[in-house]
Amino acid sequence: MIQLFTPQISILEISYVLASVLFILGLKKLSHPDTARNGNLWAAAGMTLAILCTILFHKKEENGVLENIGNIPLILAALVIGSTIGWVAAKKVKMTAMPQMVSMFNGMGGACAALISMMEFPRMQTSLAAGHATTMLNGEALAILLGLTIGGVSFAGSMIAFGKLDERIGDIKTPFLRYINLAFLVVLLIFIVFIMFKEPVAGENWMIYVLGIFALIYGVTFVMPIGGADMPVVISLLNSFTGVAAACGGFLYNNQAMLTGGILVGSSGTILTILMCKAMNRSLLNVIIGAFGGSSAASEQSGEKSVKEITLSDAAVLLSYSQKVLIVPGYGLAVAQAQHPCHDLDVLLTSKGVEVKYGIHPVAGRMPGHMNVLLAEADVPYEKLLEMEEANNEMQNTDVVIVVGANDVVNPAAEDDPSSPIAGMPVIRVWEAKNVIVMKRSMAKGYAAIENNLFYHPRTRMLFGDAKTSMQKLIAEIKNL
Ligand code: TAP
Repeated sequence: MIQLFTPQISILEISYVLASVLFILGLKKLSHPDTARNGNLWAAAGMTLAILCTILFHKKEENGVLENIGNIPLILAALVIGSTIGWVAAKKVKMTAMPQMVSMFNGMGGACAALISMMEFPRMQTSLAAGHATTMLNGEALAILLGLTIGGVSFAGSMIAFGKLDERIGDIKTPFLRYINLAFLVVLLIFIVFIMFKEPVAGENWMIYVLGIFALIYGVTFVMPIGGADMPVVISLLNSFTGVAAACGGFLYNNQAMLTGGILVGSSGTILTILMCKAMNRSLLNVIIGAFGGSSAASEQSGEKSVKEITLSDAAVLLSYSQKVLIVPGYGLAVAQAQHPCHDLDVLLTSKGVEVKYGIHPVAGRMPGHMNVLLAEADVPYEKLLEMEEANNEMQNTDVVIVVGANDVVNPAAEDDPSSPIAGMPVIRVWEAKNVIVMKRSMAKGYAAIENNLFYHPRTRMLFGDAKTSMQKLIAEIKNL
């Protein structure tokens, strides 16, 4: 008779509850920059506790007896190799390459969930066959099949997303692929139902490999037609898939830590995906079928208009004699790595009695919180960051707005051109300020690939060049005044 409530199993169960609490508290702390680093550590501590206690106290049933977990050297070797690769990659990664890294790591999570299912299917089928079951219609089989399907889609999709973000894979925008995609989804679902209604036969495992291959192909055809620049939304969606796949593993092993972790990843990934879509005023379907990009009738008419440039000395005088300055950063700030000179400019102007704040658009940059992370890295106090609405409320009293490498998030077409692809997207209304200085390298378009009439606005003057270099020159000019 197997003893279920040994002290060791009780410790294991308690450790899973503790780990789940640490995940939840860690996630809560991630919602503010001051506590985010700690939140990460808390969640990591929860994961370490769950892994250690599993290695020490988990028991497997062998011929009716509970035995200690085996393969300890292999498990430790895998832990050391995985942790070292993760540590080095995270230390080395540039801020601009962060979305790629998230995508790669997310793909690994999906692959793990898929591999667990592949390992567990033969065991489940053998035990069902021994019990003379006539079908595989049960919760365990469903968890295994869904874990493999969702994990496989997440792995393959994340690899394609990684390739697109890293500019190794181009966009294939053909409606044809969408039909193939839909056909594969239907085939996948039918195949899962087929397996579940099949009579279990010990050793007959071909269908799990076929399902795995279908899931991988679907992952590729699902992400392939989506525009490269929409990848952050797709990664967040795939991230939630990985969470669901991990939760299937939690069901399978009756492991509370895995279950809570998976559900937290799944739900937070879904919430993040919805928030990103809302901030862009687009539906998830619109992102998936790739309707962004291109031009609008009104925005393309700007050909004959001319832009005004501002010299460094004029910009230095304008800023030094202002009372209120708002810095609006965008993707170009990340590309130029201009966050440190940006903060230096802020400190310099503040020392001259100028009030400096930052206007942060929720989807500025290429990942959620991109600007907040960059500015925090440069020690910009969090209190100086205004959310889009607050920034818009203060705009008319602002003397100068400096737009640093932002484009779409300050495009007036969102409000005044109903035919624009970004029509309806909330934007920072910088043109309502008394003066606007736009720092960018050229007249190139932003992510949505549309013209920006802000650059031709009577109150706007362009300061062309790399944002970091322009910032540094501007600081030198202000110091020379
Ligand atoms: P964008 O519209 O992409 O514009 C960035 C601008 O930065 C470009 O026009 C570019 O112009 C300039 N730039 C690039 N490198 C520069 C450098 N070294 N120095 C100075 N300027 C440089 O950026 P945004 O305004 O931040 O808007 C973000 C876009 O991404 C939105 O359309 C949003 O919907 C989309 N998006 C965001 C997310 C998240 S979660 N943040 C997710 C998916 C999509 P030059 O080449 O002329 O310099």
